[in-house]
Amino acid sequence: MSPRVLTVVGNRPQFVKAAAVSGHLRERVEEVLVHTGQHYDPELSEVFFDELGPPRPEHELDVGSGSHADQTAAILTRLEPLAAEIGPDALLVYGDTNSTLGGALVAAKSQLPLAHVEAGMRSGNREMPEEINRLVADSLSQLLLAPTETAMENLSREGLGERAVRTGDVMADVALRMGPVADERSEVLTRLGLEPRGFFVATAHRPANVDDPERLTLLIEVLSKAAELAPVVFPVHPRTRAGLESSGTLDGLGGRGIRTTEPLGYLDMTRLVRAARAVITDSGGVQKESFLAAVPCLTMREETEWVETVESGWNRLIGLRPDAVQGTLDELPEPGEPSPAAEIYGGGGAGERVAAAMADWLG
Ligand code: UD1
Repeated sequence: MSPRVLTVVGNRPQFVKAAAVSGHLRERVEEVLVHTGQHYDPELSEVFFDELGPPRPEHELDVGSGSHADQTAAILTRLEPLAAEIGPDALLVYGDTNSTLGGALVAAKSQLPLAHVEAGMRSGNREMPEEINRLVADSLSQLLLAPTETAMENLSREGLGERAVRTGDVMADVALRMGPVADERSEVLTRLGLEPRGFFVATAHRPANVDDPERLTLLIEVLSKAAELAPVVFPVHPRTRAGLESSGTLDGLGGRGIRTTEPLGYLDMTRLVRAARAVITDSGGVQKESFLAAVPCLTMREETEWVETVESGWNRLIGLRPDAVQGTLDELPEPGEPSPAAEIYGGGGAGERVAAAMADWLG
């Protein structure tokens, strides 16, 4: 009988990651997919299953929104009995969200072996909830599936190197596979009346950037600086929308050249990233996607886990400094040339390597 793996996903980037892994994993083990329900709006959840085709979750926990404690607690109380009922040989978690944390804690408390995809990423900033989730998941995991050489080094430094396997980045698999599909199928440029290289695309959702009204105002100043040069397309995450609405800023953005939209599906977002003059973001995934598309990126953070994007010269950390926009854009390469090395992130074969490492481990 093949081993049974209980995989926990819960929010937008994890649906993308599962799309790279589940198919390969199911060739080797029996996988049961659980959706915690941390992200529940169709444009943050359903659309990714439709477009990218990971298997539909066998179980949904419907935890919804809440404080970190509420959300994590709901995952614990709902996942623990489900895990006992399913009786897996191991749990698999992705990334750094509260769904990752909940899954990792349930595995540890239920004495189930744990594997972590995207192990070893570190920002060095413990004020980020994601950093805490990463540290806990890695220290509780028996199999650490690390996307990059930097992640491997971080794990060695923490004494976790022996449990680590370098697989490449599973999100890069999807970006490389779906990029040309998005160029062909997405009609977002026509719908929004945009010319290739004639606009910026921006995203923001980090609590440190969008929860505090003063920081959010600065963030809008950064986007406004870019909008002086070309229109900024800004698909707004629900957390960010809430901040903009409560400060009364949302309605004025159009007049400043910032065109807000609902959160976009994978294909439309990918098309925008690949056709943009540059990307402005605080998302980890979007930094990599612009790197892989050879589009320059301005990152609205002071540190990044994806250091290779910066070292290669395609990404700059500008924090929330509006005055840095113009000068940084002048210094970054032009979009499209020369193409960055996709091999840094595994060249599109990470999902296969994750599945192979899981099968070896579960023997
Ligand atoms: C979470 C992850 C973050 C990840 C991001 C991807 C944690 C701690 N953070 O952040 O690592 O990069 O997802 O998007 O797990 N909301 C909706 N509809 C939804 C989901 C959320 O309206 O479908 C609203 C809720 O009001 C909530 C807010 O968005 O308060 C934030 O959602 P939450 O799950 O807390 O975290 P994210 O900011 O999305």
